[in-house]
Amino acid sequence: MRLTGLAAIAAALLLLSGCGSSGSGSSGTALQGPKETITLYKSHCLSCHGADLKGRMGPETDIHDAGSRLAPERIAEQIGSGGSLMPPFKDKLTPEQIDSLTQWLKDKK
Ligand code: HEC
Repeated sequence: MRLTGLAAIAAALLLLSGCGSSGSGSSGTALQGPKETITLYKSHCLSCHGADLKGRMGPETDIHDAGSRLAPERIAEQIGSGGSLMPPFKDKLTPEQIDSLTQWLKDKK
């Protein structure tokens, strides 16, 4: 039965990633950009900010229009130092990686 469980998880993951790349409506384009940046987002940010960037932990985690609300410096600072609930990433990501996420997010308007 363990195998069945694993297969179910694998299928669910496949479904999830399928959703991420096709999506529905306008949010389908949310995860487009440089491949490495998207990979970073998926492994470090998606769990809280969602595949459509609209947030999984309430309106505060909606970053689909971060670029129209936040200056790039502010985005970089949030990623590096975190917030009240968001963990800091300056020890997990290189400055270049934080910069690539910042550049990507600042165009989300
Ligand atoms: C553990 C959950 C969690 C993870 C992981 C996470 N965040 Fe956040 N993020 C939050 C929360 C919660 C907020 C709202 C403010 C706060 O508590 O810091 C937030 C806020 C933000 C904001 C500011 C939004 C605004 O409108 O002010 C940005 C930008 C952001 N996150 C980007 C990222 C990026 C990029 C990553 C991946 C490197 C990431 N977050 C990973 C939970 C998370």
